[in-house]
Amino acid sequence: MQYQIPKGLFDILPYGAENPWQLSEKWHYIESIIHKVALDYGYKEIRTPIFERTELFIRGVGETSDIVSKEMYTFLDKAERSMTLRPEGTAPIMRAFIENNLSSLGKLHKLYYFEPMFRYDRPQAGRYRQHHQFGVEAIGNTSFEQDAEVIDLMLEVYRRTNLKNITLLINTVGDAESRKNFKRALQEFLQPSLLNLSKDSQERFDKNPLRILDSKDEKDIEILKTGPNIFDYLTSRSKNHFTSLLKFLDNLKISYKIDQKLVRGLDYYDNTVFEAVSSDLGAQSSLGGGGRYDKLLSNFGGPDLSGIGFGMGIERLLQTMIKQNSPFPSESFPFVYFIPLDETAKEICFKLASELRHMQIPTEIDLTSQKIQKGLQNANKLGALNCVILGEEELKINKAQLKNLANRSQEEIDLDKLVELIQNQYQNFKGLKHV
Ligand code: HAM
Repeated sequence: MQYQIPKGLFDILPYGAENPWQLSEKWHYIESIIHKVALDYGYKEIRTPIFERTELFIRGVGETSDIVSKEMYTFLDKAERSMTLRPEGTAPIMRAFIENNLSSLGKLHKLYYFEPMFRYDRPQAGRYRQHHQFGVEAIGNTSFEQDAEVIDLMLEVYRRTNLKNITLLINTVGDAESRKNFKRALQEFLQPSLLNLSKDSQERFDKNPLRILDSKDEKDIEILKTGPNIFDYLTSRSKNHFTSLLKFLDNLKISYKIDQKLVRGLDYYDNTVFEAVSSDLGAQSSLGGGGRYDKLLSNFGGPDLSGIGFGMGIERLLQTMIKQNSPFPSESFPFVYFIPLDETAKEICFKLASELRHMQIPTEIDLTSQKIQKGLQNANKLGALNCVILGEEELKINKAQLKNLANRSQEEIDLDKLVELIQNQYQNFKGLKHV
């Protein structure tokens, strides 16, 4: 029987991947950028478990959201408690924040995460049932400058990965009072056309009318054209927050596009919401998105602190980079590749290789072939820079052949000088390459 990976999942492989974004080396590169960006902006990593109690997401993300109503991987554990594989990172972080009493340790908490998420979505390009997100949550500062920092951080990842044609969409969903008034106006406006709306929008009419705004249905879009505008229903605090943020972004020369249809699919947002989209991603154009949440922590019984954060999809980021031919660092390769030609040589090569490895020099040893041609083929396949060949002839005179695979030059080196020589060559190489 042949086992197959469940639909919507993928492996990340060292080589042989169907798509280049599934290569582990590319993931390592992105991970290194992410940890560095987070560090440069003063964010600290938090890791939460892969599953949580189901109520956490129902309460946090919202019962009527697509994530909770359609997409959760929920199961009963052996004690019949309902558990859910994490579909998003914000609610678990709020739980961990409260449970570990982090608010007692300072006023502002700048947290980040890099984690797999699980959503029972309809799989297609850019949409998977397990995807990975880099996200941040800044908790404890209500100011618009904090929004700007979080947005700038998100964009910095795209800058450092050389992404082009990224548009920052921004909107406000106001505070609870603004939304209450706007929802009422929207429902009054839509009521006469209710039966002409798409089925999804009809379902959302009572429970979550704001989500009708981001409907992709053409009829819905047409009906909404003359509908009310959230800006007319904002409380003065919400209006000030948004206009101050836009002005601040202007001063920082961060360009954005106001998108009044942007409401986001999670129910916890207040005021600022934003999304980075790429025209190179096709239907799943959202590279990352987030927003401010004022009541999430207090709804969970925690302190009355406001937060702002985002999550960015790593698969989509890698896919866009590859599509745009963004540079990736050169692949890892052995600096030296040992080819022992008999058992005695193998033991000596193994010792030398270990010494070099302990010096953190990438080293490979051919433990199987014991043939020069085969060994050289393997070395070339791996992109090795140098080869050490050791056989009976060399052992007799206590020397080894050191071959430079780039310029094909070869010299005979005393075995007891070999490690030092390679170490020096590696230092020079590192200096040249800035490894
Ligand atoms: P989200 O918009 O649901 O936000 O997801 C964030 C990003 O994850 C999306 O922009 C997209 O790049 C990626 N993504 C989402 N679903 C999938 C999928 N099925 N396959 C591949 N990529 C996907 C959140 O999850 C919020 N927790 C973000 C946030 C943090 N808001 C405030 N703080």
